[in-house]
Amino acid sequence: MIETRTIDVPSPEGTQPIAVHTCGQGPLAVLIHGFPLDHRMWHGVMQGPLAQRRTLCAIDLRGHGQSPGEGDVFSMEQLADDVAAVIRQLGEGPLDEGPVDVCGLSMGGYVAFALHERHPECIRSLVLTNTRAMADTDEQRAGRDAGIATAREQGAEAVADAMLPKLLPEGASETLVARIREMIVQTPVATIVADQRGLQRRPDRRAALAGIGKPSLVIVGEHDAITSREEAEEMANGIPGATLAVIAGTGHMSPFEDPAQWSDAVAKLWQ
Ligand code: MLT
Repeated sequence: MIETRTIDVPSPEGTQPIAVHTCGQGPLAVLIHGFPLDHRMWHGVMQGPLAQRRTLCAIDLRGHGQSPGEGDVFSMEQLADDVAAVIRQLGEGPLDEGPVDVCGLSMGGYVAFALHERHPECIRSLVLTNTRAMADTDEQRAGRDAGIATAREQGAEAVADAMLPKLLPEGASETLVARIREMIVQTPVATIVADQRGLQRRPDRRAALAGIGKPSLVIVGEHDAITSREEAEEMANGIPGATLAVIAGTGHMSPFEDPAQWSDAVAKLWQ
């Protein structure tokens, strides 16, 4: 059973409530969703065998899911500070006492990089799934400006229409498509805009890969249309001791599309 609660974390604007959704047993693992989604993308993983090994905690980043949030820019650093504050508060409770396992998908992976840079003491191990260490190219930044205009002028439905073909591979089931669409259309336009501004400004983290001294696993979907296998290989080669897993038959949302295969790969890291 998934238990939901809200944790108040300190923020430059005052207190920021962050909703966390927890199940399972054992040491704590934090799951960070992608853009413009929420904790529900982890439901399949949370209902699977990893919950026998870890207390799985899926966070709704500020402005997403059940976490409110306002602001013009959600920087990866701000989102990482929120996650670190959640980890510290959970660590003071009965769940766990030390650093935690961190999994981030795509934007969640960018947040995990910022978390490692700013709060490495929070991290026991890293799963970087369907993500990249590179900053945006000029073309990608321009694409995000176009995405912001679409969101403002046509709303989140139009954002879902534009993103779905990139998030899921051709032939994805109607159920999966409907569940992703639901998450996107329920994300406030202000959040979509603030995320895009933060994503545009994120730094290139490739030079930092060699300094990641935590057990790490890089995962990519075989048909991921947003992050490529080459980028995943570059990350896995750059992080000392990291391994790479390719999730067959999946696109950008590998833990959502095939939680069993994804969980098998992660279980090897969490032995
Ligand atoms: C995500 O899935 O979080 C986004 O595709 C990240 C991005 O746009 O770079």
